[in-house]
Amino acid sequence: MAFTRRQVLGGLVGLGVVGLGAGGVRYWLGRSSAASHDYELIAAPFDLELVPGHITPAWGYNGQAPGVELRSRQGDWLRVRFINKLSEPTTIHWHGIRLPLEMDGVPYVSQLPVLPGEYFDYVFKTEDAGSFWYHPHQSSSTQLGRGLVGPLVVEEREPSGFRHERSLSLKTWHVDAQGAFTDFSVPREAAREGTRGRLTTINAQPTPTLELPAGQVVRLRLFNLDNTVTYRLNLPGGDVRIYALDGHPVEPRPLGKEYWLGPGMRICLAIKVPAAGQELSLRNGPVRLATLKSVASSEPAGDWPAALPANPVAEPDLSIAETLSFRFEWAAMLVDNVEQGGHYKYWQINGQAWDINDKSCADRPIATLKKNGHYIFELRNMAQYQHPIHLHGMAFKVLSSDRKAIIPYFTDTYLLGKNETARIALVADNPGVWMFHCHVIDHMETGLMAAIAVV
Ligand code: C2O
Ligand code: CU
Ligand code: CU
Repeated sequence: MAFTRRQVLGGLVGLGVVGLGAGGVRYWLGRSSAASHDYELIAAPFDLELVPGHITPAWGYNGQAPGVELRSRQGDWLRVRFINKLSEPTTIHWHGIRLPLEMDGVPYVSQLPVLPGEYFDYVFKTEDAGSFWYHPHQSSSTQLGRGLVGPLVVEEREPSGFRHERSLSLKTWHVDAQGAFTDFSVPREAAREGTRGRLTTINAQPTPTLELPAGQVVRLRLFNLDNTVTYRLNLPGGDVRIYALDGHPVEPRPLGKEYWLGPGMRICLAIKVPAAGQELSLRNGPVRLATLKSVASSEPAGDWPAALPANPVAEPDLSIAETLSFRFEWAAMLVDNVEQGGHYKYWQINGQAWDINDKSCADRPIATLKKNGHYIFELRNMAQYQHPIHLHGMAFKVLSSDRKAIIPYFTDTYLLGKNETARIALVADNPGVWMFHCHVIDHMETGLMAAIAVV
């Protein structure tokens, strides 16, 4: 039986129990010297100062939230010993990384949950260079909401031509004016655009000032690690080009007026930093997210690097592809046992709402693809709210939309606008059972998730 096989995988591949002792949590920052893994990553509670003078009881990875930035090189193996020092079970999912199912971090599908005090060794090869991220796939609104999110950078195999880069992790915290957590998920909001936090931060700092070297071209990796918010990114007056979307290179082009970065999405920009002393605003619509301040640099002026090399993603052949349709709909479903731990269901895909309490949902995939088959997915948003649609295990190519012009590109998450229909395509080259869901966590937890099998 499937579940037994998964139990065996979970038990034999990497689950273990750690004895770190009771003397408090120790953190290892950066690369570990142990031969068995590159990083030791510890999830644990810690005190975070988001609001000056107040403590937020956050959960983080290696004592920070967003978590420590993990780095790998394209083609290398990444070996992470993950240790759970929380008081509840968790897992780690590697968003956007194409890896074997047993490393994908979905509880009861890829592995058993990692219980408090246990560890799990995640080991996989990083085939694609780009900006990715990691987060639990369990109790997501709370665990991600409290800070369990972190960036993962896979460097290009050969030097990319960028001499400077910065990572900017965006998150809008559900905290009040005293830094106390507010509800991560409110039913009324889950049925709409999702529950928004109030305090927007970059790398856990509200409206920080980032110093950039004058005259240089700096790579800015932006990660939307938020549960709900789509940031409408703009940088007025800046000389800015897009180099990659969601971990996959694009032909460099100007940022333009605004780019909508939905939950889970990433964008890699390059900015030509103006003369020393000048300031630019990175904004969400009209609201400032950060000040970019140019400081004197003794380096010779930088130039725009060439386009980044494409990742080794299989090209879907549209002439032989089979088309599958997915409707994302609002569902007025009343669940009467909410007090007894039942969950609200507001959303469904092709008439099916995912139940996060039912461990057997993944045994009833919404679609079964043939291994190495070519597919076109037609994604139809029947609702007034947008959905960042994400697929695990495989990258897909965005082909077209009935709402905007698309230059086809590979991604793992597509922001499906209100009432939009879009077409994406992929080669089903990774066998397994893969989650397919909206990355507005509220939507995902109230039905907007399904499993897609590749056999
Ligand atoms: Cu960021 Cu199911 O994923
Ligand atoms: Cu994912
Ligand atoms: Cu959604």
